[in-house]
This record gives sequence, structure tokens and C-alpha cells, in this order.
Amino acid sequence: MSWPHRPRRLRSTAAIRRMVRETRIDSAQLVLPVFVREGISSPREIPGMPGVVQHTRDSLRIIARSAVDAGIGGIMLFAVPEHRDAMGSSACDPNGILSVAVRDVRDVVGDDIVVMADLCLDEFTDHGHCGVLDARGNVDNTTTIEIYARMGVVLAEAGAHAVGTSGMMDGQVGAVRQALDDAGYDNTIILAYSAKYASVLYGPFRNAVESALDGDRRTYQQDPANGREAEREVALDLDEGADIVMVKPALFYLDVLADTAAASDVPVAAYIVSGEFAMIEAGAAAGVFDRRDAILEALTSVSRAGADVICTYWAIEAAHWLRETR
Ligand code: PBG
Repeated sequence: MSWPHRPRRLRSTAAIRRMVRETRIDSAQLVLPVFVREGISSPREIPGMPGVVQHTRDSLRIIARSAVDAGIGGIMLFAVPEHRDAMGSSACDPNGILSVAVRDVRDVVGDDIVVMADLCLDEFTDHGHCGVLDARGNVDNTTTIEIYARMGVVLAEAGAHAVGTSGMMDGQVGAVRQALDDAGYDNTIILAYSAKYASVLYGPFRNAVESALDGDRRTYQQDPANGREAEREVALDLDEGADIVMVKPALFYLDVLADTAAASDVPVAAYIVSGEFAMIEAGAAAGVFDRRDAILEALTSVSRAGADVICTYWAIEAAHWLRETR
């Protein structure tokens, strides 16, 4: 009996598998999220995120240097201020911790990697919401995007190559684009968190930023049940001028990522979030799989689904592995 269809032929040696591999990860597409905490004198561990710390300004400079040496694509900065208020005032303070951190990192890395700053108010408000509240306690879209617009200019002025609009307010990309352009920052990139879900998987991140949130973000972040709605969010952000669109979380939302990659005419990013990080770390620590293989499979899957850029807490470590296997 003859049987011509034998897919196993292309799997028979490591060299054949390597030759026909469809997805390859490149360190240059990996972005490392980092946390900097105002007012601490040594780095602090983060509950739920083994190996990830809140940086001091000094240790931030060291990790920024390591990021350049590892050849990763960029750094995404999150800052934790010492003081918070209802309006998130320190977010727009040129001497606030986020702007200071952007300047510090640019001082170390120059243009060697991409410096991105988170553009959102949740780290800066005393109630922990991503925007400011109206008299009834609801997140006020109009006032919030006015603040985002100012914050975008402050971050561009500090030297951010890109701002990550992560607050899920309507019209935020358009408002930030307009303000950047009016201030002469027409080259500052907007990385739009276009499809960001109200996910349980942000738990460890909230420890990382000492989130003050009591409640949830379901009036602005998307319902995890909705895929079609993500297409609308992506289309709106593209229309408002997003340079890169992002899906978040990544691993639980690979269908949304694949649909976004099919629809987008700009690069697509995906964020392997803190809870996804924690699950894989916990699985590896429990001995249920090999840590390195699990991380590389996760990165490969996110890339295969269509991500050009991957935000991951493993960026530097993975970059070293990728160099070894070459
Ligand atoms: C909000 C923000 C969050 C994350 C990134 N930006 C948390 C949230 O929406 O509550 C989560 C990232 C992660 O879990 O790794 N600015």
C-alpha cells in the first residue's frame, strides 16, 4: 500500500524541524515591563512575582543597561509614587517618579532600545481607578482623557519614545495624539492597549504597584466574554491614530490576538500579564513542567497567534536563551 501523505517526514530530524519552523522569536521583539518605586533605598520583592522587583532609581539604571546588553526591543516603565490623590496629580508632574524614571532610563540607553512609559492614572490615584471620578463616583471619561493628554506630553518631554495608553477610556488615543502633535511631539509613538480585558490575571501586578483599587474595572475594561467587541476597539484606536495596537492578557486571549493581527495594518503587540507569568512560574516550581521549555512555548504561541511585539517579564532571560540556542 502506498501512502504519500506523511507529515512526519518533516519532523524526522532536528535539522529538518528547524528548517521548516514557521515561528521564530527574536529578542528584538521582546519588551520588559519594569516597576520603579519612589522613596525606597533597596529593591523590593513583589508578592506573587518571583524574580521581579520594585526598582530603586539606581537599580532601574542597572536593569536598563542589562536590557540593552540582552538585545531586547524595549522597556515599559510603571512607577509607584510615594503619595497619591484623587486626581492622580503626580502623573502629570515633570518631577514625578514616572517622568524622573523615563529620564533616568533614557540617560542610560539613549536610542539603543525603545523606552515606553505607561500612560494611565491607576498608580497615581488614591482610589486606584484608571481615571478620575465624578460626583457620583463613576470614572469620568471626559476629564480623564484631558489628563491623559497632558500626561502624554509630560512623558514625551521626559524622553519616552512611546506612551502606552492602558486606561481603556473612550477616545484616549485621539486625545493623546492631538496633544502630542500640538506640543510638537509628532514622532512620539502611541502603543494602544486596544483590547484590554477586565481579567483576574492582573492580581500580582496590583501588588507590584501597591494598587489602592477596591472593586473592579468592569465599566472600562472589556468583558472577557466578548471577542467581536475587541474588533471594534481595535478599529477605533486605528482610526484615532494608534501606531501599535495591543491585546492583553495574551495567553488566555490568543483568539482575540489572531483576529487583531488579521485586521490590523499596524504592528500588533500582546502582553503576557502578571497572572500568566505567575501561573507558569508556579507550575515550574511545582515540578509539573520544565520552566524554560514552558516559557519558550508560551512566547512561541503568542508569536504564532500574530504578535509582532511581546511584553513579558521574562524578556531578558528569554533573550539570553535565544542567543544560546542560535
Ligand atoms: C493599568 C495596568 C494594569 C496592568 C498593566 N497596566 C493593571 C490593571 O489594569 O489593573 C497589568 C499588567 C500585568 O498584570 O502584568 N495601568
